[in-house]
Amino acid sequence: MQSNLPLSSKIPVREKNIILIGFMGAGKTTIGQLLAEKLGREFLDADHEIEELHGMPVTEIFKTMGEPAFRQMEKEYLTKLCRSEREKVVSLGGGSFMQEAIREACLSSGIVYHLDLSWDSWLDRFEALIDTRPILQSKSLAEVEEMFASRKLVYADNHHTIAVDAQTPEQIAEAMAQQIKAGWTREG
Ligand code: S3P
Repeated sequence: MQSNLPLSSKIPVREKNIILIGFMGAGKTTIGQLLAEKLGREFLDADHEIEELHGMPVTEIFKTMGEPAFRQMEKEYLTKLCRSEREKVVSLGGGSFMQEAIREACLSSGIVYHLDLSWDSWLDRFEALIDTRPILQSKSLAEVEEMFASRKLVYADNHHTIAVDAQTPEQIAEAMAQQIKAGWTREG
């Protein structure tokens, strides 16, 4: 597990939200749910919360209102969450971190974990994702690979990077829980 940026010190470490970022299909929701259980915290999936708030699935928001409207909803929901919520485990949609306002809010108020999947492993998951991810539907595989590479550069702004290719969600969540709890103990 690689450690990157220093943590901002305004919020006590044990109260900080744990925020999971990474490309579609990296396992953010599955791992986030397992991690939340292990930490005894509430889990929030940003896409699911946006769907509840706006009364329609993300695919429908893209279809009827367009991607810019969805990005605005993401920004409003996540910047508010970073201001008002503590002690949550939150999984972000794969595109959220491309918005500077979201990135800054997450990095300054939470502990950001990048779930880092290789392109080859992602290809194995591609078929399972295509129907429910509007962002994939109008793109060639070469364009998706380009997006994968350019997003990875932005995901590199994080507190911890975890390679998720070779481990099960349970193993990853357990390793994260141990690391997070050790940080709480260190803080006293
Ligand atoms: C998106 C990823 C999706 C969802 C939306 C857009 C993206 O979330 O937010 O379809 O731009 O990568 P997941 O990463 O949970 O699939």
